[in-house]
Amino acid sequence: MNNPLLETFDTDRLVASGPDEMGAALESGKIIYFPQCPVQLPPTEQLDTLRRELPKHLKLKNISYHPEAGSVRGLDAESPIRDLVQQVLVNHSDRVSEFLRGVLPGLFDNALIGTCSFRPMEEQGRKLKPHASNELIHIDAGAYGATNGDRLLRFFVNVNETTDRVWLSRGAFPELLNRYAAEAGLAGLTPKQLVKGPLGHLRSGMLRAIDKLGMPVSRALDSSPYDRAMRRFHNFMKDTPDFQSDPDGRVEMRFPPMSAWMVLTDMVSHACISGQHCFNYTAVLPLASCRHPEMAPYNLLAKQNAAA
Ligand SMILES: [Fe+2]
Repeated sequence: MNNPLLETFDTDRLVASGPDEMGAALESGKIIYFPQCPVQLPPTEQLDTLRRELPKHLKLKNISYHPEAGSVRGLDAESPIRDLVQQVLVNHSDRVSEFLRGVLPGLFDNALIGTCSFRPMEEQGRKLKPHASNELIHIDAGAYGATNGDRLLRFFVNVNETTDRVWLSRGAFPELLNRYAAEAGLAGLTPKQLVKGPLGHLRSGMLRAIDKLGMPVSRALDSSPYDRAMRRFHNFMKDTPDFQSDPDGRVEMRFPPMSAWMVLTDMVSHACISGQHCFNYTAVLPLASCRHPEMAPYNLLAKQNAAA
């Protein structure tokens, strides 16, 4: 694919790549594309079962394994394939984590392993509410509660046998912030306004304490000024038809069956406009692990009005 956002790692480049190569590409706002998925995939019969059965048993937007709870959500509680789904998602998550530890030394240090989901439905025309829709171009904001500036890494595999997964993008965060900060209501933010105050810390501490008592949903309620700013940018993009339709910087990408790609989704705008059957793995990477923290959304937002 000829696309300025993509860095392609075929098998030869993967073998020859240096230790910082992929991390540097991710942090600079590239999507790393693997024409052949670099991690072992589940056996064909298990994939066939997921493709065939999961659309019938879907209860939420996706079917996800939550490592913090050790369980699968989004699937009918009585589903006879519940154990199989959990096994497949746990195995896939473990394999992707192992791969990332090898190719992202430093950047993947102290990563929080998040959900691993399977997308069983055709994305085109799902008619989800705009803020939940994958079909509208956006950056990701927040995951598992407050990120406080930490990074969202997602690793995708198209496991459809015949059909491409199609993405749109309007480029990376630095350019988007430059162009749309005022319109999105982010231009006036000062570094101090991105830092959590004493009350925010108190609230986060209480939610962490409740989380440790075995109520993981409490963690999802946590927030921070940074996460709210990112949410505002995310919503601005999805709520603004002119942003969606503007051809400036807009690119389409097609990911063929059994290809994989990974991207910092807080950095690169994206929409999935069609495709069915995809694994989506998420990890939260500490901002402190970034080699180029000056390029991270947190520091770009703070830099806007650094003198204030
Ligand atoms: Fe997203």
